[in-house]
Amino acid sequence: MSRSITVRAPAKINLLLGVGPVRDDGFHPLDTVYQAISLYDDVTVAESAAWSVDVEPIGDVDVSEVPLDDSNIAIRAGKLLTAHHGIGRHAAIGISKGIPVAGGMAGGSADAAATLVALDRLWDLQTTDDDLLAIAAELGSDVPFALIGGTAHGTGRGELVEPVADHGTWWWVVVPNVEGMSTPAVYRAFDEVGSDEHSGGSDTLAVRTALESGDLDDLAAALHNDLQGAALGLRRDLVVTENALRQAGVLATLLSGSGPTFLGLVADQDRAHQIREALVEAGHDGVLVATGPVAGTHLVDYV
Ligand code: C5P
Repeated sequence: MSRSITVRAPAKINLLLGVGPVRDDGFHPLDTVYQAISLYDDVTVAESAAWSVDVEPIGDVDVSEVPLDDSNIAIRAGKLLTAHHGIGRHAAIGISKGIPVAGGMAGGSADAAATLVALDRLWDLQTTDDDLLAIAAELGSDVPFALIGGTAHGTGRGELVEPVADHGTWWWVVVPNVEGMSTPAVYRAFDEVGSDEHSGGSDTLAVRTALESGDLDDLAAALHNDLQGAALGLRRDLVVTENALRQAGVLATLLSGSGPTFLGLVADQDRAHQIREALVEAGHDGVLVATGPVAGTHLVDYV
């Protein structure tokens, strides 16, 4: 049997997502606070004669929209890493997907980050941290954060990440939506609305202060997503989701990244499960409970 390595990468949410006016390169400058939460994709790699990718769901995750050809971000990650080292090797990549697809939680970015780390170990490439972060940034704005995990301040287009102090253990009710959303479409809608909603540095500071003190009410008051107005403009059904979370008694609601997943901040694990059950009874499918911060991309198994 050929050797295989399994690496796990977490979902991310943005506790604060400040978005500036579009740059010349088409990306938007971000001032964001990322948190890694306890929903994961596991990526298993083994040497193979050609690149391939296979995806299986964990729980209720719908994987039908995940591409299985060379456009899959895990294969793109593998190709970038082998090109960087000038080696002509290939791998079969298996993804067990626990992060909702096209949900605004960077599931594809998690797969890319996990693939980079898994192949680096499989072939003992000893890629430096700086090179790994640079390759990650080339693959997508959220991929460097998927590598480091925890809680981090993100700038640039999101790819420049610095860990921040986080002394809380935060609990989230996660409400995915069966219909995914295109990130570029949400950013385009944001451009049309204008960037008046840009939250500026003070809101980032409020989130970071709340995280540092571990104060739940302060964090609840500081959560903010500049993309939320644009996303709700595109998808009125999400207003119903947000109202359902509010009525169920969460401390604060927040759109995850560019959506459509909605998050509710709650006091503790018991409360999270109570609210999850209330939402399931009210007819919401696939509601999850997650905690953060959790570790970034890490090895879980090798054979
Ligand atoms: O970097 P990533 O591939 O995840 O970005 C996907 C798309 O999201 C980009 O092509 C762009 O349309 C939009 N985006 C943006 N500004 C960012 C990050 C992403 O406009 N900072």
